[in-house]
Amino acid sequence: MHLYRSALLRFADDGSALYDEDGLLATAPDERGVQRVVAAGPWQALAARHAGQPVTHWPGRLIAPGFVDLHIHYPQTDVIGSPADGLLPWLETYTFPHESRFADPAYAAGVARFFLDELARNGVTTALAFATSHPGSVDALMAEARARRLRLIGGKVLQDRHSPDGVRDQTEQSLIDTEALIHRWHGVDRLGYAITPRFAPTSTPAQLAGAGEIAARHPGVWIQSHVAENVDEIRWARELFPAARSYLGVYGDCGLLRERAIYAHCIHLDDADRALMRETGAAAAVSPTSNLFLGSGFFDYAAADRAGMAYGLASDVGGGTSFSPFRTMLAA
Ligand code: GUN
Ligand code: ZN
Repeated sequence: MHLYRSALLRFADDGSALYDEDGLLATAPDERGVQRVVAAGPWQALAARHAGQPVTHWPGRLIAPGFVDLHIHYPQTDVIGSPADGLLPWLETYTFPHESRFADPAYAAGVARFFLDELARNGVTTALAFATSHPGSVDALMAEARARRLRLIGGKVLQDRHSPDGVRDQTEQSLIDTEALIHRWHGVDRLGYAITPRFAPTSTPAQLAGAGEIAARHPGVWIQSHVAENVDEIRWARELFPAARSYLGVYGDCGLLRERAIYAHCIHLDDADRALMRETGAAAAVSPTSNLFLGSGFFDYAAADRAGMAYGLASDVGGGTSFSPFRTMLAA
């Protein structure tokens, strides 16, 4: 058993936060040799039970549960800080060309290792991650995350139009690949799969509809995409899907709004969109460092709260500028 004495942030079974200024955390290996928490609480209340055992004392430090990053792109680790006049030029100039390199599995594996080191270094133990459109980029990330026993949810990007050679996929094959990856990775140890249409403008209606059909067949998998981030993006989405009530409505029409569906940004929603988020159980991934870096705008927390829609914080690396949840919280 390992005993640690320091300040302790923990959560009760009902989800409420508890803080012990002087706390004790005890861990012990389970039958597979994995360290698990066996006791946590005020030092005063628990110390007597462990009298005589060695204690690691960290005065002035805080032990906390791992952070969750609700939206991050592992292939954009080396895109951080690339300056552009907003989202669409940023995608075209830096992001798409860079993501084309992930066709090479060895390159993808190297970045996956660095990326997971960065998550760990910043205290992030759970992430919902985009890979690229190359199925091998998912394999590289999942294999490395599995070896580290990480809680990681990820998916192959779907983008079968308005995308350059090197990242554009093919409608039918992209859906076949998605379903094969679900079978290969979803529910393996601590891993999960997310159906990952990049955003409505780079998917044909057929690809979005196919993604929705896969989602219906696999209610336990996640869905992740982007919505209402940038005014030029929104204008483009409206032109491409004139029949939809709104940009968010495009996803709703395809069966891509539900619980376990996470939409990055959600900056320029209206109240009908927010009500749709609440009704369907979809959640927003608020990405403040990305919204600042790309000049996209600000998430409206008050309107989201009034509507009762769910949201969480995300780095959105590499539109976002830091892996650190502390920097994300500060920007928020
Ligand atoms: N919209 C479509 N693709 C992307 C992406 O890679 N990053 C961000 N921030 N927005 C997007
Ligand atoms: Zn993103």
